[in-house]
Amino acid sequence: MIAELPERFLTALAEVTGPEHVLRGDAAAGYVVDWTGKFRGSTPAVVRPGSTEDVQRILVLCAEAGVALVPQGGNTGLVGGGIPRHGEVVLSLTRLGRLEPVDVEASQVTASAGVPLQAVRAAHPDLDFGVNIASRDTATVGGAVATNAGGLRVLRYGPMRSQVRGIEAVRTDGTVVSHLTGLIKDNTGYDYGSLLTGSEGTLAVITRVRLQLVPRLTGLVTALAGLTSLAELHVLVRRALVQVRGLVSAEFMTAEGLAILREHVGLPPPLPASTPVYVLLEAAGPGALDELADLIGDLPAAVADSGPERARLWAYRERHPEAAGFLGVPIKLDVSAPAATWVQLAESVRGAVRAVDPAAEVLIYGHVADGNIHVNVVPGTEPDGRHEDAVFSLVASLGGSISAEHGIGALKARWLPLNRSAAELDLFAQIRRAFDPAGILNPHVLPR
Ligand code: MLT
Ligand code: ZN
Repeated sequence: MIAELPERFLTALAEVTGPEHVLRGDAAAGYVVDWTGKFRGSTPAVVRPGSTEDVQRILVLCAEAGVALVPQGGNTGLVGGGIPRHGEVVLSLTRLGRLEPVDVEASQVTASAGVPLQAVRAAHPDLDFGVNIASRDTATVGGAVATNAGGLRVLRYGPMRSQVRGIEAVRTDGTVVSHLTGLIKDNTGYDYGSLLTGSEGTLAVITRVRLQLVPRLTGLVTALAGLTSLAELHVLVRRALVQVRGLVSAEFMTAEGLAILREHVGLPPPLPASTPVYVLLEAAGPGALDELADLIGDLPAAVADSGPERARLWAYRERHPEAAGFLGVPIKLDVSAPAATWVQLAESVRGAVRAVDPAAEVLIYGHVADGNIHVNVVPGTEPDGRHEDAVFSLVASLGGSISAEHGIGALKARWLPLNRSAAELDLFAQIRRAFDPAGILNPHVLPR
């Protein structure tokens, strides 16, 4: 349902950005649905600011008129956090595209919110960015900070929060808070950059970010090995964390997901014979090949040390998020468990879903070293929350998190009390009110 906005309000927005950056009707269509097709909304307008000043003026206009906004980056999110599900205005930040010159001495760079992550990765020949996700060409710096994105190299560099050295953001009263010096040692009060990281667009609109860069890795070796069970996989990855000094990634997938991918996108088999579970390990540095070979021993495996060959092996993992979509519209759940209960979770999650929906398809894959399992459910029955309930209850009973990396968004707000106490949720609400007293920023994401 699209709420009618007074024409004079839309004219005021257009005066800020120029009328070509206020999109309506068909021109707004790509901004109101996520890429899985699960989350759909509607909007009276998408407004595309070109500067921090534009964002200030838009927020003031919206606060005065009591108009709710959903900030949106590259629209690659998976929990509906950037979709106007209740007729909000979409604040699309992709025009904030300035990547400043790399500060080589500090190994840092300041990027505007709309810069794609891949542009940060490619900003300097000797430096890389620690966060690498499959949607890197489209996902933006602002969106990745707002959701504290994780991805394929968390075991080495940590998630987005670990890369953020400073933030500029606009509050809904139009004030700009900015602390972009990038100093590693800087105990001058509250670290609101850390608070905004993972805030899912509910506190303030992130416009610029100071990011730490890391030395670009050389001598990368990728290995994909076949295993007989999730328990064997887990033991192997725990050993890899100790024995492979240059380990960067430890990912897993299963035969079910691989079969669907192969059928629909025509990938050749990765190994001569199929195995129930696959691990993809990547390591860097002079000893990487030997250390991976020692670890893998007699397991069936493919090893690559050239760019194209590594990319070929990575495709099996990086294309996994697409697999469930070939069967239907998936519910993409993203959970984690402590190392001590990870195998139990990985082995029992399919059964937990099938107990409430025997016809459901369940695919699992993810980041083993982080305890992070992506559970993609294609329901066999009307999705009414029972699938989420089954998975999240199991996760909570094993001491895990209902959101390892994608956030709470619109999808999981109902289940947040499984992980957070009433006192914590009350604190969240107070923080939210302090940042956004007008209550117009992403009002239907995270509990208020
Ligand atoms: C991944 O690890 O592939 C991403 O988090 C996306 C997904 O969960 O599908
Ligand atoms: Zn992931």
